Amino acid sequence: MAKDRLRVALIGHRFMGKVHSHAYQMVNQLMQPPLEIELGVLCGRDASDVAAHAQAWGWREWSTDWPAVVARPDIDAVDIATPSDMHPAIAIEALRHGKHVFCEKPLANSVKAAEAMVQAARQARTVAMVGFNYRRAPALQLAHQLIESGEIGRVFEVRGLYLQDWAVDPNVPLTWRFREEVAGSGALGDLLTHVIDLTHFLVGDFQDVLALRQTFIDERPMLAKAAGEGLGHVGAGREQKGSVTVDDVTAVLAHLRNGAVGVFEATRFATGHKNGLQLEIHGERGSLRFNQERMNELEFYSVEDRAGLSRAGFRRILATHPDHPYVAFWWPEGHILGYDVTFAHELYDWVNAIAQGTVAHPDFEDGVRCQKVVEAIVASCQQSQAVTVPSQDGSRD
Ligand SMILES: NC(=O)c1ccc[n+]([C@@H]2O[C@H](COP(=O)([O-])OP(=O)(O)OC[C@H]3O[C@@H](n4cnc5c(N)ncnc54)[C@H](O)[C@@H]3O)[C@@H](O)[C@H]2O)c1
Repeated sequence: MAKDRLRVALIGHRFMGKVHSHAYQMVNQLMQPPLEIELGVLCGRDASDVAAHAQAWGWREWSTDWPAVVARPDIDAVDIATPSDMHPAIAIEALRHGKHVFCEKPLANSVKAAEAMVQAARQARTVAMVGFNYRRAPALQLAHQLIESGEIGRVFEVRGLYLQDWAVDPNVPLTWRFREEVAGSGALGDLLTHVIDLTHFLVGDFQDVLALRQTFIDERPMLAKAAGEGLGHVGAGREQKGSVTVDDVTAVLAHLRNGAVGVFEATRFATGHKNGLQLEIHGERGSLRFNQERMNELEFYSVEDRAGLSRAGFRRILATHPDHPYVAFWWPEGHILGYDVTFAHELYDWVNAIAQGTVAHPDFEDGVRCQKVVEAIVASCQQSQAVTVPSQDGSRD
């Protein structure tokens, strides 16, 4: 690694590629990490497209050959923003070359593949992090602080919803997000994995799950190969159709190991909801509520309020005070932060961990932890019964 610089290669240049590229600029300019991030190589599949994006976003070079990119001696760190079927191969190859790795969620499409990534990370002894970005919304960091300091006491129940509606149109084409062999699953892997990770972060581990899933639209218009990326809103009326092989909605009941109960749901068919990642956590001394569509706000109810505020109910905390986590990097209080800062925060923490030789959570083991819940949910759907989630040490206690 060159002194005081971290030379990054980014594999994937569409939705997450754009978000990460923008985040690196913000980290360098506004957060000033201990290492200056150098935007080294941007990699994608479509040469003319990736070249144009590399130029627009300030990447020094571009490529369509990821194995060559992750082997380059002038690259220190690899950021993976491709569909999840490719995460293991790219990550393991990058780690084999001694690179630090940041990998978008979900870590992989199976526990086995995710565990192979953990193994590769252990051998490489570099910093390997997975991109569950919502952990780093300031309001959810504040929720974590409040839970850790006992403000809501023992947690009884966590409710987690991730509601979107973009797939309700039958003319949305058959992108990789509807194909099990690429995406692993649908609303489950795409959306519910964020809720599972937040439950791990805020409340605790899963004991068992009872789940159901449904696909509402079985066939969708096929795409020309090159157009099969992104959310794929490329117009209606194509003649040829292909099969959707993933869930449109998944719903889950769960016991957590600490005795709390969980109720979870993810769907891309919740008309009216655009990015409705919602959490509600009920404890013996109070409750917390969050909705990503109003991500600067955390709602807090405390039983202590009863006397003084005559059962005033939930209060709204605007999580934009400089004392709130990460906010000091940004604007004066109340000037409202967005989706993009969650990525800046996680990439800042990755770079800091690299500079300091520490671990950045969620790491690849956290990615496996999430994937174990995903596999138990799939098994529960298949078997129509509750399924135990293996603990991190592999036991089914
Ligand atoms: N954290 C979040 O909020 C969030 C949001 C959306 C997507 N994601 C995750 O990010 C990842 C990418 O999703 P997306 O929405 O950016 O997908 P996308 O379809 O918009 O982009 C995929 C990218 O992967 C590249 N790619 C595919 N195969 C390649 C190959 N062989 N060589 C080089 N590049 C290749 C494509 O060129 C494209 O640039 C997925 O794992 C997804 O789950 C995370």
